[in-house]
Amino acid sequence: MPNFSLELQNIGKRYGEVVALADINLQVKEGDFFFLLGPSGCGKTTLLKIISGLEAPTRGRVIINGKNETELHANKRNTATVFQEWALFPHMNVYDNIAFGMKMHKFPAQKIKTKVAELLELIHMGGYHKRMAYELSGGQQQRVAIARSLAIEPDILLLDEPLSNLDLSLRQNMRIELIRLHEQIGKTFIYVTHDQTEAMTMGDNLVVMQKGKIEQVGSPKEIYKNPVNDYVATFIGETNEIPGTISELSPEPILETPSGIKLKVDIRDNSLKKGSKAVAIVRPEHTKVIKSDDAIDNRFDVIVDNVAYFGPSLRLFCHSANDNTPFFVDVFTETEMAITAVAGSRIKVGLEKQYALCYGIN
Ligand SMILES: Nc1ncnc2c1ncn2[C@@H]1O[C@H](COP(=O)(O)OP(=O)(O)OP(=O)(O)O)[C@@H](O)[C@H]1O
Ligand SMILES: [Mg+2]
Repeated sequence: MPNFSLELQNIGKRYGEVVALADINLQVKEGDFFFLLGPSGCGKTTLLKIISGLEAPTRGRVIINGKNETELHANKRNTATVFQEWALFPHMNVYDNIAFGMKMHKFPAQKIKTKVAELLELIHMGGYHKRMAYELSGGQQQRVAIARSLAIEPDILLLDEPLSNLDLSLRQNMRIELIRLHEQIGKTFIYVTHDQTEAMTMGDNLVVMQKGKIEQVGSPKEIYKNPVNDYVATFIGETNEIPGTISELSPEPILETPSGIKLKVDIRDNSLKKGSKAVAIVRPEHTKVIKSDDAIDNRFDVIVDNVAYFGPSLRLFCHSANDNTPFFVDVFTETEMAITAVAGSRIKVGLEKQYALCYGIN
């Protein structure tokens, strides 16, 4: 049996009529870098507050390190939170900001001194003790806020969109810093974001949420390769979506588009029947520009609308030649297609059936 840092059992949370969370069940392994991912308003912050004890669930249990801590007050739980607005105490210097929690917890003075020095090294800010919080850059403030949370040696560090106030390049650096910190400390990190790139590139495991519910839990690779529904498939990673109706199930499932294109697909939804409305979800790396005589399960013509330059590759934004369904395809920059493709070109794209993941839609 793995050791779980955190188990959530049947957690529900209501604010009057608003159901913020509905029946959340989740297990987080000790030492995991775990992500809660979902759009604005889906309940991520609420869930984080319930884990930290800042909010009480309407029902369900919060188990931390095997102990039922549902009724335990926030300051008695061994968790620490880094909020989106990281709000250091502006009138205190870096040392006092980091030492604050330890003083509150009555750590011995010598231990506080050693710990602050250790944490400043960890965040690559050795020598910044005396700097006032307002004299720091956004990224430095962010690192101090993380150090402050780590100072009390929490078993679980909770991070609520900690990088959303930083510009893109700083955010990318901080992502690497956080991965390094996590590896060095070896504690459980639970990180809230609505940014799928962050969750995909940093997380050991993640949960995709929607409207207070969990849609799927797994590693980034599992979720990317085997999304349970079209919501998860389109939320994680990039996709083309081809809507249609299931016109055949056997011997081979076929999705027929409104304009009559018959696509061989891989059925990922057991509820699909002949006549069901459905959508085929296709990842960019599984679509290619083909020549007329290439052997492939599916082929169709598209018209190029727009060519976007990405450096190593170009993205051709197109629409189906039969109707207006949008479809994009990537080509490497140095290929013949990349050199000749212009807006208005008619090209053939191909797709193997195992990569046309087919789900029901309502
Ligand atoms: N104190 C509150 N009183 C009433 N409703 C609330 C309260 N806090 C949150 N909610 C509601 O609960 C739902 C979940 O909110 P929550 O803050 O957890 O979302 P979130 O996923 O963190 O969103 P974001 O990405 O925008 O931060 C929302 O519908 C929100 O309006
Ligand atoms: Mg939030």
